[in-house]
Amino acid sequence: MTLVPLGEANGRDAWVVRADDGRSFAVFALEDGPRVTDAVCPHNQGPLEQGWVRDGQIVVCPWHWYRFDVDTGACETTSQYELGTYPVREHDGVLVADVGDPPRALSWSERLRAHSHGDG
Ligand code: FES
Repeated sequence: MTLVPLGEANGRDAWVVRADDGRSFAVFALEDGPRVTDAVCPHNQGPLEQGWVRDGQIVVCPWHWYRFDVDTGACETTSQYELGTYPVREHDGVLVADVGDPPRALSWSERLRAHSHGDG
């Protein structure tokens, strides 16, 4: 489990926070509380914190305007993509996102096996 402090909005609607392991996440300050998602768009790595929030909880990617629900991660534009979303809670008096564990690096044999099955 990795907890990432959200920091302060300081007038911003969205910003990026980083975990110690190098992963980046976007924070969206919505009316009913902050939401945390992957920082980049699953379509082609667009910077989601530079997008627009519409209809209360839909972030529109600034690069190709794909729409993602920041609560569920579902893509309204195509079911081909899904955005990572992470729960927010209070920890030691500050708001944090629980971003889980970093993905485990695959060994070479695992990579070759995944490749032979068409996964990599
Ligand atoms: S990179 Fe986000 S919609 Fe293409």
